[in-house]
Amino acid sequence: MKNTAISLYLDLIKKALSFTLWPEPGIPLETFNYKRSTAKRYFINNLTKILRRFKIQIVEIANYKEQDREEGIIWPMYAETMIGLKRLDNIQYCIEDVLKNKIEGDLIETGVWRGGACIFMKAVLSAYEENERTVFVADSFEGLPKPDATNFPADKGDSHHTEKFLAVSQENVEENFRRYNLLDSKVVFLKGWFKDTLPHAPITKLSILRLDGDMYGSTMDSLIHLYPKLSKGGFCIIDDYVLPGCKKATDDYREKENIDAPLLRIDNSGVYWQKGNN
Ligand SMILES: C[S@@+](CC[C@H](N)C(=O)[O-])C[C@H]1O[C@@H](n2cnc3c(N)ncnc32)[C@H](O)[C@@H]1O
Repeated sequence: MKNTAISLYLDLIKKALSFTLWPEPGIPLETFNYKRSTAKRYFINNLTKILRRFKIQIVEIANYKEQDREEGIIWPMYAETMIGLKRLDNIQYCIEDVLKNKIEGDLIETGVWRGGACIFMKAVLSAYEENERTVFVADSFEGLPKPDATNFPADKGDSHHTEKFLAVSQENVEENFRRYNLLDSKVVFLKGWFKDTLPHAPITKLSILRLDGDMYGSTMDSLIHLYPKLSKGGFCIIDDYVLPGCKKATDDYREKENIDAPLLRIDNSGVYWQKGNN
């Protein structure tokens, strides 16, 4: 790619959002305390409280390989997105294609965590001075739902809802947009469970539909309510095809709707397709 101002800006912002510009600093000891036994949790809580008084923090060394960060296969401590550089490149590719071919519609990500992938969508639009399209930011902003095994048996026993690390507030995500100077009235937040927000969302047409809700139910709810609104020539991106529940929901929906557009691989986790006649 040529070193134009646009490509330099977008490359820099991808590296900043994925925190790959810098070595990963240590992980504060208390971050994953919720996964520890009661005794260890109690000990670490008290220890960190005392040390804080002396402005001391214990961190665990993050032994991530460069490739893990590029591939987005770790939960990063400091990045605004966990999807890695290859999946960010894919977002850029899809948006540039949509703009070049004048495919109509807004953009959405369902499952945003700290908002980095949506911030990047907005950055690409802004770089190309495209100010008409809305970026929808859909999340509970309190983590994943408990599995609904009655409606979605594939989610039985899923433990994502216990991961406090995945619960990020809307205020926090708004602040992340603001820090990149990318928050305006064309960024619209859809707060709540997908099953409640997506059926009534003020969306008429989409050009980019990006799904990152990890579970069968979250993927299926997003596809059912949003895929019919995706324009022909638009892109459907599935972040978590590596997870069995998400893969099954994607395969089930594609089969039921006779979607035969080839499923293209982005990296070890993500896939996407360009919508044809269905
Ligand atoms: C893996 S994180 C998303 C990562 C993000 N796309 C990024 O760029 O780093 C999954 C997110 O999906 C949200 N989520 C999953 N299922 C949901 C549902 N059914 N309704 C609302 N939010 C959901 C969680 O709250 C969480 O923020």
